[in-house]
Amino acid sequence: MTFDNINVSHLIVFFAIYSFMGWIIEVVYRSLTQRQFINAGFFFGPFIPLYGFGAAFIIFIDFLIHAWPLPFKILVYGIILTAIEYLTGYIFEKIFKLKLWDYTNNKFNLHGRVCLLFSVFWAIMALAFVTFIHPAASRFMQSIEPVYLYAFSIIFLLYYITDFVFSIASITAFRKKIAYLYSEYFNLSNAEIENIFDSFKRLRTAFPNLSRYIDNSINAEIKNKISSFLKSLPGKILPVANGRKPVEDEFYEIIHDIYEHEEFLKLREHYHHNSSIYEHVMDVAYVSYKTSKYFNLDYRSTTRGALLHDFFLYDWRNHTEPELHEAKFHGTEHPKIALNNAQKHFELNEIEKDIVIKHMWPLTLVPPKYKESYVVSFVDKYLASREFVKKYNSKVRKRMKRPAADHSIREKRKRNKNLQHEE
Ligand SMILES: [Fe+2]
Ligand SMILES: [Fe+2]
Repeated sequence: MTFDNINVSHLIVFFAIYSFMGWIIEVVYRSLTQRQFINAGFFFGPFIPLYGFGAAFIIFIDFLIHAWPLPFKILVYGIILTAIEYLTGYIFEKIFKLKLWDYTNNKFNLHGRVCLLFSVFWAIMALAFVTFIHPAASRFMQSIEPVYLYAFSIIFLLYYITDFVFSIASITAFRKKIAYLYSEYFNLSNAEIENIFDSFKRLRTAFPNLSRYIDNSINAEIKNKISSFLKSLPGKILPVANGRKPVEDEFYEIIHDIYEHEEFLKLREHYHHNSSIYEHVMDVAYVSYKTSKYFNLDYRSTTRGALLHDFFLYDWRNHTEPELHEAKFHGTEHPKIALNNAQKHFELNEIEKDIVIKHMWPLTLVPPKYKESYVVSFVDKYLASREFVKKYNSKVRKRMKRPAADHSIREKRKRNKNLQHEE
């Protein structure tokens, strides 16, 4: 098919076919890499316009350079498609302030919008496209009555404009919701926050970078709000942690139904940092109890939430345990498992639930809602890192002993040699 016998309806149908093929490529690639079905692209329907435009450019360029030697042609395809990809990324970032894809972690990338590996991939795809796909599509097109092509192109165009308008509206709504979350975060209920996050689930799964974007922006905002509060914590925690009394009636009264519960006692059998989970959660609960009392917070909820925060009964280094599925990541999964276990055996209020489910923040996307949760999250990290440092130091000390011994042996040998010489 040459340019002479191509009309507008041909162009629209080509555009539809190639946008659809692009969608299939992206769906297969993303579903495989993310191990679940992903409806790729920012359109609701099964079309990715970027591929349609890319194909149009390649057809046009190929018309101009089809007599060139193959290596030059591949190079030109690569450059053209890379330029289109870069421009699309740039426009989205400028207009919507969103990074829909990000190659920052790939080698030889330019501003994260394009990278060498994918440019090579695009060039190879373009070659396959002009050699096999486009000729086949052209033959198919010629076999169809022009009136059908005409009807299809009108229906497609109407559909396309509608989808485009709704998709732009959904991206705009997403931006608004994020802004709303920033400003109202501490006034919203957990259910409302959950609802907002769920409402753009499709966009988030289609563009994994959006999650990182929300994460960075929201967390930066929330971090600002609570940073002064958090900054004052280490100074308070240290004396509290060091001045622990073996028995404190109120503390044990608050947790009386939990810490001797048959199921909860099983935590003794599971190893955490360098102690059992039971010891770890008791430590975290105690320091959180003292800290939140100091700050006049709801120390009862803080203590109970802190005690239940790691209520998971498996070895987190062993992913074959039945409670944690192999494909899942302990860091983000165990708060859910802990909450589930806790609710099976105890009554939890909103603050306690928030403490358990958000204690891994900022590893998990949604930040805590209550000051009590920040206390526990902070104390947990603080004590865990202390436990880690202790363990590390004892390892280093053990290792340090060996070279010291060698050193003294070497000294002795030297001294012996000197003595022999003197003799
Ligand atoms: Fe934890
Ligand atoms: Fe913990």
